[in-house]
Amino acid sequence: MAKGDNITNIIDHVLYSQEDIQEMCKRLGQQLTQDYAGKNPLVVGALKGAVFFLTDLVRNMDVVMENDFIDVSSYGDGFESSGKVTLDTDVKADVKGRDVLIVEDIVDTGHTLKFMEDLLLQRGAKSVKCCALLNKPARREEDVTVDYYGAEVQNQFVVGYGLDYLNKYRNIPYIGVLKPEVIKANLNK
Ligand code: IMP
Repeated sequence: MAKGDNITNIIDHVLYSQEDIQEMCKRLGQQLTQDYAGKNPLVVGALKGAVFFLTDLVRNMDVVMENDFIDVSSYGDGFESSGKVTLDTDVKADVKGRDVLIVEDIVDTGHTLKFMEDLLLQRGAKSVKCCALLNKPARREEDVTVDYYGAEVQNQFVVGYGLDYLNKYRNIPYIGVLKPEVIKANLNK
């Protein structure tokens, strides 16, 4: 393998190990099993980042559910939200009267979550809640509630387990903080 091809070279330090993440999925899955019992929720994964988390989360939920996906984007330059959210791929299901659970990788400014919640509520969803792997409350710009989350993170940019930088590094199996020089190198391009 050529030097530099190893993706873990770009990680400054590990924030959450694979074991930590599995613990979070187990705890959240147990809570959601209780809260959604008998509700046949529509579980909507936010593409692309949340796919990794969603597959582990729902396998810890002992609940009959339906699954769908939505793709919205707001990130302009890779690590700062532009604040302008666009709908790239819509959900297929009719959400009218449904208990919808949005699964997100991370809630940062809250623009993306607010956009998805407003859209689903306008269409007549009975309830819309959010389960995110990570929550960055210090960065919030919108008044949104993250009903369930795995852990809070400070104001730092993290990658791995679905979280990307410029659509890369999603396949790192743990969550780590990017080396500052990786961001600097890309800014100078
Ligand atoms: P928000 O609209 O600012 O809340 O941004 C939500 C989206 O921004 C997430 O779904 C992620 O795709 C992305 N994002 C926010 N913070 C990070 C991070 O630390 N690493 C990777 N992606 C992030």
